[in-house]
Amino acid sequence: MFASKQEQTMSTSDTLREFKFIDLIYSHVSVRSYTGEKVSDDVVRTIVEAGQHASTSSNLQQYSVICTRESAKRNTLAEFAGGQNHVAEAPVFLTWCVDMRRLNDVCEEYGWQQENALLENFLTAAIDTALAAQNAALAAEALNLGICYIGGVRNHIGEVIALLKIPKFVFPLFGMTIGYTAERKPDKPRLPLTGVLHWEAYADNPVAEAVAKYDITMQEAGIYRGRGLAESGEAYSWKLHSARRVSSGVRKYLRRSLQTQGLDVE
Ligand SMILES: Cc1cc2nc3c(=O)[nH]c(=O)nc-3n(C[C@H](O)[C@H](O)[C@H](O)COP(=O)(O)O)c2cc1C
Repeated sequence: MFASKQEQTMSTSDTLREFKFIDLIYSHVSVRSYTGEKVSDDVVRTIVEAGQHASTSSNLQQYSVICTRESAKRNTLAEFAGGQNHVAEAPVFLTWCVDMRRLNDVCEEYGWQQENALLENFLTAAIDTALAAQNAALAAEALNLGICYIGGVRNHIGEVIALLKIPKFVFPLFGMTIGYTAERKPDKPRLPLTGVLHWEAYADNPVAEAVAKYDITMQEAGIYRGRGLAESGEAYSWKLHSARRVSSGVRKYLRRSLQTQGLDVE
């Protein structure tokens, strides 16, 4: 079949966006402002069940989700997350946890011991958790809800563990606000595909070019406007912001929290 004239002037991704689901994925933006409208229990169940349909390593399904609806608890979680208002505002807060407890119990049933300190096992469970969460996020967005991941739950991880009564061998990875969108911010551009997609082997040069190009795109979009340090003479954009972020060594206490949860990963 020949492409129509209109299709010929579109980029491949524009054409593919005609598929509603692809368009939904491209339309993602984190939502940090919610209306007061309630999200029903049925909707929450559907979203989490959609998460469960994601691929999972060896079908182990090593994750659990804690749904917080009580506003007092959401307020506390908002504080723990560093005073993030959207956590208090969204009617639903999901805490996505690695859950190695279920199979720990099953192992004990057989008189075996789960390898709770093995990095591979933790990584597998963390990957499963993230895949399920992202499936759930898309399901929520398909139902016209807004979402925002909240890594801030790891800011005061001990307090979050105590508040949500999270047992041993379970570890909260991140939270997710869910609610009906009050305000939608403009989409955040992503790195040019040439900086991410490598054909056949990893290629360095196009990546550096793509990063430089993206820095300008983000500067023009004003995404990091006003967030630079005063002493920095350089234009503050994605490169400086991200390099500062990954070199600052945040949440160094996580290893201790993992140990407390019986997951002495090495
Ligand atoms: C694991 C994870 C943790 C995040 N933690 C937070 C957070 O604590 N607070 C927040 O407002 N956004 C958080 N975000 C959202 C990111 O900042 C956001 O996805 C990113 O800037 C890209 O913007 P977009 O989602 O609007 O496209 C998190 C995202 C991920 C994947």
